[in-house]
Amino acid sequence: MIEKYCFGQPVWTGAVVEDAELSKGRFPFGTIKSEWPFEWNYTLDSQDIVYGLGESMGGINKRGRKLVSWCSDESHQDETKESIYGAHNFLIIFGKETFGLFFDTPSRVEFDIGFTLANQLTVKTSDTGVKLYLITPEKNSSDSIQVNIVSQFRKMIGQSYIPPMWALGFQQSRWGYNCEEDIRNVVKIYKENKIPVSAVCMDIDYMTEYEDFTVDGKKFPNLEKLSSDMKKEGVHLVPIIDAGVKVKEGYSVYEEGCAKDYFCKKADGKNYVAGVWPGRSHFPDFFKKEVRQWFGQKYKSLTDAGIDGFWNDMNEPAMFYSEEGLEKIHQQLKDTDVSNLDINSFFKFAYLGPTLQNSMEDYQRFYNVVTNDDGSTKAYRHDKVHNCYGALMTRAAGEELENLFPDERKLLYSRASYIGAHRYGGIWTGDCCSWWSHLEQQIKMLPGLNMCGFLYSGSDTGGFGDNTSRELLLRWTELSIFTPLFRNHSALGTREQEYYRFENISDFKNLLDLRYALIPYLYSEFVKAAVNNKMLFRPLSFDFEGDRMLLEIEDQLMVCSDLMIAPVYKQNASGRYVYLPEDMTQVIWKNSKAETLSMSKGLHYIQAPQGQVSFFIRKNHAIPLKTISPDDTFSALNLKGENLQILGDGKCSPLYQDDGLTRKIICS
Ligand code: GLC
Repeated sequence: MIEKYCFGQPVWTGAVVEDAELSKGRFPFGTIKSEWPFEWNYTLDSQDIVYGLGESMGGINKRGRKLVSWCSDESHQDETKESIYGAHNFLIIFGKETFGLFFDTPSRVEFDIGFTLANQLTVKTSDTGVKLYLITPEKNSSDSIQVNIVSQFRKMIGQSYIPPMWALGFQQSRWGYNCEEDIRNVVKIYKENKIPVSAVCMDIDYMTEYEDFTVDGKKFPNLEKLSSDMKKEGVHLVPIIDAGVKVKEGYSVYEEGCAKDYFCKKADGKNYVAGVWPGRSHFPDFFKKEVRQWFGQKYKSLTDAGIDGFWNDMNEPAMFYSEEGLEKIHQQLKDTDVSNLDINSFFKFAYLGPTLQNSMEDYQRFYNVVTNDDGSTKAYRHDKVHNCYGALMTRAAGEELENLFPDERKLLYSRASYIGAHRYGGIWTGDCCSWWSHLEQQIKMLPGLNMCGFLYSGSDTGGFGDNTSRELLLRWTELSIFTPLFRNHSALGTREQEYYRFENISDFKNLLDLRYALIPYLYSEFVKAAVNNKMLFRPLSFDFEGDRMLLEIEDQLMVCSDLMIAPVYKQNASGRYVYLPEDMTQVIWKNSKAETLSMSKGLHYIQAPQGQVSFFIRKNHAIPLKTISPDDTFSALNLKGENLQILGDGKCSPLYQDDGLTRKIICS
């Protein structure tokens, strides 16, 4: 059951599509300490677990952390970071009392989950109002209470985005593919090594001076031909689109946006200016419907050249500096006496530069115009509605791509997000680093993302920042072959990390072959999960109730309806402990073939040498694997479920199949 409570004056977010009745009673759990600004306190029982919060740091159980929903351009995601790119305010308290909560507000929300006081959960929002949805388990559900709460929530926020089937293929990316030749080469070398690739991403390098919806004709003289040549190889091009629009006379997107008054404004009515990749930029006010339509229609310039996938970036929005911020720092620099800096003055001086980027002062310098549920329109200072900006950019692209192509699904994923954006596109988890701890973090983030509707998600395989190692890339890939979005992406200046750069390439081919063998199953499971509001990645305790041992397992996940994975995320490991919650079939995948082994419930040490990967099939379940022939070209058509090998000791559930492209989804 879902009940809605309103505190203060809530602002439209677009998250909910099937709204609940406003409850007349008192909020039944914990204490509402203040209605506006909102603060809620709840006393946690010693055994209570807190699940959720989507893309955020920490474990699957968020207890002991302070996390802040504030979409942040955060490339240094260490232990202490409270906010990253997404703002996903849904959580489940599981224990003595079990219920789900969704705090629907576009502003900053603070979750103190037993950080300040071990048994106190405190949720505070900034000064816009909040709609608080309470989700209690339904009686007579055949699902666990956690899964039941998630399904009710997901129904309320609407069906998750379903990508075209080719988007389950492998995507190769790198910031720094600087010209057409670079892209052709990547594809050529993958083909030579018989490693399947379904997409190559085009980072900011393809644009003219980082201007959205332009293509640098010197580096990419004929995008249409490149795209069509690539499609013949079964490869799609996926260009990036950034939120900031370069301020430049003669640049049509800038000129139109100014003429139509589509950019975010400051209090004095002037367009707000901040620096991003192209230098001084304006920011479309995606809160306005007409702006979303205008910006979304711009994607047509690229679809006209044969492009059918996009990634939206820098849409927190990320800002390197504002004009005002620059001026202030410039003055402070001039005013600093550098003849003798003591500890205080030195640190103040040294940190002047970093304070320029993504500063709260800047987020308070401009406004967004929001139309609320009652039809009234109001300008809010950006910081009060910040968390919806990126989500509305995704909505702009998603809605207009659908208008332009009512019959064809396009690939779309984004960096910043709020719940609601899950209906229009996927997300990747942003600029992680080539660190073992970041691989571990990705495992823990997946259930939360799925709880919040983001089924099409994944991480920068191998890590984006810093230099990856062969071993890290291999282990990371062992996880990513199960995530719907599977992309190897790395930052400019880091070690090149296409699979063919490393020794024993056959180890990587082995993993990629498994991914492609799984695609008919993954696609079927994806569509079913989207349509039926289910999660693809679940903590073990969501599937097996009553086994307390499972409540603390955070490095194994249930995947789709039939599988369990236990990724290796430690350097130099040749195996790991795996707890089987029931008898299972272990699948050992090596030399692009499956071997199976029956295993009994309980704790096992499994061998995991580099070059093979294991996963587990539930008792009385089975999955289909497509037989891979070394000459497969993996065009969209032959990703389908033909030549299937059945693994497991049960019967496969019927495979959902369609053409992988049209928007009409018929599925049970
Ligand atoms: C941001 C993105 C990253 C991209 C880079 C350059 O850091 O998160 O994926 O490569 O910008 O566009």
